[in-house]
Amino acid sequence: MRGIILAGGSGTRLRPLTSVHSKQLLPVYDKPMIYYPLSVLMQTGIREILIISTPEHLDVYRALLGDGSHLGIRLDFAEQVEPKGLAEALLIGSDFVGSEQVCLILGDNIFYGHRLPDMLRAEAARLDGCTLFGYPVSDPERYGVAEVDEDGAILSLEEKPANPRSNLAVTGLYLYDNDALRQAAELTPSARGELEITDLNLRYVDQQRARLVNLGRGSAWFDTGTHDSLLEASLFVQLLEKRQGIRISCLEEVAYHMGYIDAEQLIVLGKTLSPATSYGRYVLELAGAA
Ligand code: G1P
Repeated sequence: MRGIILAGGSGTRLRPLTSVHSKQLLPVYDKPMIYYPLSVLMQTGIREILIISTPEHLDVYRALLGDGSHLGIRLDFAEQVEPKGLAEALLIGSDFVGSEQVCLILGDNIFYGHRLPDMLRAEAARLDGCTLFGYPVSDPERYGVAEVDEDGAILSLEEKPANPRSNLAVTGLYLYDNDALRQAAELTPSARGELEITDLNLRYVDQQRARLVNLGRGSAWFDTGTHDSLLEASLFVQLLEKRQGIRISCLEEVAYHMGYIDAEQLIVLGKTLSPATSYGRYVLELAGAA
């Protein structure tokens, strides 16, 4: 399975924070936002990942993450010239995905839950069509909203409905079989001129090849689309990290635990981060070198 992180868009709702800066590089407590979705893909066992961003920001992502080899993964980069919708990521990434399955994740979505990596690996292994991940929220009208029956079969799917039929938001994490490339190419732009991910998902629903997994209570999901939700995500990460003495979505740790790099490589990464930072010390301690 190949991974795509969509880190495009103009971040209009977060201006002036995003007037010159890419939204998905903004800090979420102690690390850039994109670390969080990248760690999700890495923990799912996906090591070939395409990062899509705007032409003006792509070089900053390259400078931050390089080709991924230091983390034992391979990163490619591609441009989304205009914000023409989430489903366009599959068209931009179609050569990269080739004949594989694909996991698309939005660069501003933050997931946390200790059972999440195992669950995602299991869902990827059993993928047949498309798998969506739902999360109960108090403000579903801000999101794609799914209505499901007792067995998790999707009855309806609507993008930002004025009168949501359920409180189940569709998160920005999507697993697709290879047919998604063909189906995305058949989409036509919505009224707002975008290739809507919900339209792609609806095709799978119509074909009865879509599943929704409810992430439910034992996990946390944040989108970081507003000043408040961005701050709330930071506070959540700070709280957990301080209380437990762990780091969430520390890419160096994930790479080490997944066996993508060994202790020696981890020490090099820790030293590059500088032992003077608590993040760097944490990485060195993991390698037993602090
Ligand atoms: C997008 C999707 C929406 C989904 C959300 C998750 O909305 O269109 O279905 O629920 O991401 O973050 P956007 O944030 O682009 O408005």
